[in-house]
Amino acid sequence: MKALVLAGGSGTRMRPITHTSAKQLVPVAGKPVLFYGLEAIAAAGITDVGVIVGDTAAAISAAIGDGSVFGLHFTYIQQDRPLGLAHAVAVARDFLADDDFVMYLGDNFLLGGITEVVDDFRTCGNRDAQILLSRVADPTAFGVAELDGTGRVIGLEEKPRHPKSELALAGIYLFTPLIHEAVESIRPSARGELEITDAIQWLIDHGGRVHSSVISGYWKDTGNVPDMLEANRSVLETVDAVQEGYVDEASTVIGRVRIEAGAKVIASRVVGPAVIGPGTEVIGSCIGPYTSVSEDCRIEDSEISCSIVLRGCLVTGVRRIEESLIGRDVEVGMSRRTPAAHRLVLGDNSRVQIPS
Ligand code: G1P
Repeated sequence: MKALVLAGGSGTRMRPITHTSAKQLVPVAGKPVLFYGLEAIAAAGITDVGVIVGDTAAAISAAIGDGSVFGLHFTYIQQDRPLGLAHAVAVARDFLADDDFVMYLGDNFLLGGITEVVDDFRTCGNRDAQILLSRVADPTAFGVAELDGTGRVIGLEEKPRHPKSELALAGIYLFTPLIHEAVESIRPSARGELEITDAIQWLIDHGGRVHSSVISGYWKDTGNVPDMLEANRSVLETVDAVQEGYVDEASTVIGRVRIEAGAKVIASRVVGPAVIGPGTEVIGSCIGPYTSVSEDCRIEDSEISCSIVLRGCLVTGVRRIEESLIGRDVEVGMSRRTPAAHRLVLGDNSRVQIPS
């Protein structure tokens, strides 16, 4: 069995972060979201992984290399334009050959991994495809499955205006080579993409056996900022208290906080769950709860909660920052200059909310 990991796409809903990096590389609890999926694939006993990349290919390959650190072997496959998930399967046709495979969307986050579902698919041997479903409040943003009374999938619709159920398709699919015939047979959707949802519907319409299982644990498509912050909160709930960095006597650390090697917490209060990345300095500040600060940041005289701060940021004198995603090497500071005014240097598609 192989895996096909999708790490392309333009990530428009994650701008401006995605102007300079890939959405799959935003860290959740200090680790890029993509790494969780790769670790889940390795844990399921799969080693041969095709990685679909697009415009952000350089950033992705710099982050994950040849796969050896995960115990995996990567074959990079370029998708020149994001023409849909089924298009990605078509582009990977040679790599996939006639093997069964699990397709994993690199921005999807599933707590608890995929070992059970992969084992199930491997051993039962009488399924053409298997999909994972999750109950969501607003199914219109996803592929939606309709099941019959016995749980068999009878229909799928991509982002329907009037969903037939509350069961969204998670971005993790298991396929036999029959999917290639389906992919070759479908046409682009109204949004101009070759939809994997349509390919699976083709299987159903042609007598294919499509099995589904409803995910009981936490699943999130982290394609936008609120969802990314929510995934961050969920993973932080599972973090253990570890103190590898330095915490001075004037500081208080409450609850499950991971302070990584080389980090310094001086005259500050850190409330878990939270992660303070390697080499980051927190001085005279309050951090947390539900906050991950990446490596090499300096947070001084500030308060940050329910947020993700990426590498190399400098935050000084700001009370307080909440529910924010701050990109790499960003400076947020207080100014004592007159006139008192907000002075902003923001990248394209940035969003700032200033309290009235
Ligand atoms: C894709 C699929 C959709 C699925 C979702 C899960 O949507 O087309 O069926 O529910 O992933 O993350 P996209 O994120 O490309 O809009």
